[in-house]
Amino acid sequence: MNVALIHGPNLNWLGRREPHVYGTLTLGDIEESLRAAAQAAGHTLETHQDASEGGLVGILQAVGHTSQAVIFNPGAFSHTSVALRDAVAAMPIPVVEVHLSNIHAREDFRRRTLTGSAATACISGLGLDGYLAALNHLIAPGHGDSMR
Ligand code: DQA
Repeated sequence: MNVALIHGPNLNWLGRREPHVYGTLTLGDIEESLRAAAQAAGHTLETHQDASEGGLVGILQAVGHTSQAVIFNPGAFSHTSVALRDAVAAMPIPVVEVHLSNIHAREDFRRRTLTGSAATACISGLGLDGYLAALNHLIAPGHGDSMR
């Protein structure tokens, strides 16, 4: 299986961006860990990052043809973007939304995730472990398509 890992705005700055909230791992560190875990289980990972809403819509539509599952951290667009919510809802493959921080324990405006309402599942507050949990779920035989 090929899994697409997609990050939204400001996540290219992980490691130096509010490390007390998001930790010290860089985006490259997260991508490397996920790639290693995917490959160890006999799968492949493709990675994308885009700071624009339209760019992310295009990436989601494209990976619908190249991958069998998606791990998506839309960053701040989670809380604002109907366009991305609709793109997630239209996906023919499972999409697990992941947030490094616990979005329910922060400002009120982060508690609602529009994209998460269309995703297969949402994981929030587990840092890197959240991505690994998403990957493990998606590559488990039969799991990737059982929830949606
Ligand atoms: C985030 C949470 C969002 O509220 C925030 O805008 C981000 C990162 C997270 O991974 O915790 O950019 O998606």
